Amino acid sequence: MTKKSWNSNLRKANKAKNDEFYTQLSDIEKELGHYKEHFKWKTIFCNCDDPEESNFFKYFALNFDHLGLKKLVSTHYQDEKPSYKLEITKWLDINQDWKIDFKDTTKISLQENWDFRSGECIEILKSSDIVITNPPFSLFREYIAQLMEYDKKFILLWNMNAITYKEIFKLIKENKIWSWYWFNLSLVFKSPYENNLEANLKFCEQKWYFWKNYIKTPAISWFTNLEIKKRHEDLILYKIYNEKEYPKYYNFDAINIDKVKEIPMDYNWYMWVPITFLNNHNPEQFEIIWLWISSSWIDIWVKPYTLEHKKYRKEIQKRGAVDGDLYMMKNWIIEVPYARIIIKNKKI
Ligand SMILES: C[S@@+](CC[C@H](N)C(=O)[O-])C[C@H]1O[C@@H](n2cnc3c(N)ncnc32)[C@H](O)[C@@H]1O
Repeated sequence: MTKKSWNSNLRKANKAKNDEFYTQLSDIEKELGHYKEHFKWKTIFCNCDDPEESNFFKYFALNFDHLGLKKLVSTHYQDEKPSYKLEITKWLDINQDWKIDFKDTTKISLQENWDFRSGECIEILKSSDIVITNPPFSLFREYIAQLMEYDKKFILLWNMNAITYKEIFKLIKENKIWSWYWFNLSLVFKSPYENNLEANLKFCEQKWYFWKNYIKTPAISWFTNLEIKKRHEDLILYKIYNEKEYPKYYNFDAINIDKVKEIPMDYNWYMWVPITFLNNHNPEQFEIIWLWISSSWIDIWVKPYTLEHKKYRKEIQKRGAVDGDLYMMKNWIIEVPYARIIIKNKKI
């Protein structure tokens, strides 16, 4: 095998490993408990699953009657083999080992491998009401594009890095998707692969009930396009704008805000807030203007870098630290805050 093909196989394997994270039942319960009204007489589709292992399937199977569901369909993805789907239209019991009794499910074998993009999966997608899963992160762009194309409702668990993808941020900015209750979490997923990284082993040691194939992953959030009240509640603001507390950026006309709760109630121009703002966003209260995505700054009239800033960027890149495009000058020292979002108050 050449070095190039070995590297590309390794990359593929790592990508596949990162896609095999199984969500714990307690994390699913915490979020989905808020959506009861949406599930009544609906067909739920879990299209990136292994139903006999999946806690998404378990959650809906055990709560089938309580939620008043119409149907639950889960497809089992197999890399290069034909696979099957499981369908239920009534409540499933659990046995003495707290395992689901699968004898009441309809298991349908088919030729395709149940890739979410396959013809058979798309047919199920068309006839379902809400798609709920933790999709493979490496295919996230395609995954969400397909849901938008078929105009489907969804609840998805994903890594917050996806917000920085241009296509995903555009959907957030246009209020087509939003975050829900549990946001920016460190979640523990189960994986078929052992994770021997020092940090993970330490974590497993501290939590004696986890072992190497449980992986703690930061910056995980739920996102959805289902409506609920929280999205229309105003963030309560109490601070008053003053120049000292809210410095302006040097190369862009926006003020810096370090904590979401400190957004001033009376500032009517651009404000640069931490990404956690998304969990409080009410589109009637604020407009999302932009996100820190380097190549796009030109679209919002950021001034070109000065010589000092160029020098600073070189130094910071050498140290491997996080660099940004907007910067402040404090006592003639450059300061670049970590990834932020620009917003504007719509009510003043
Ligand atoms: C992050 S895991 C989540 C599994 C499960 N939904 C859960 O949360 O416990 C993503 C799953 O998507 C599956 N998958 C990978 N590529 C897929 C594809 N093209 N179509 C459908 N499923 C896929 C993986 O095998 C994996 O089981």
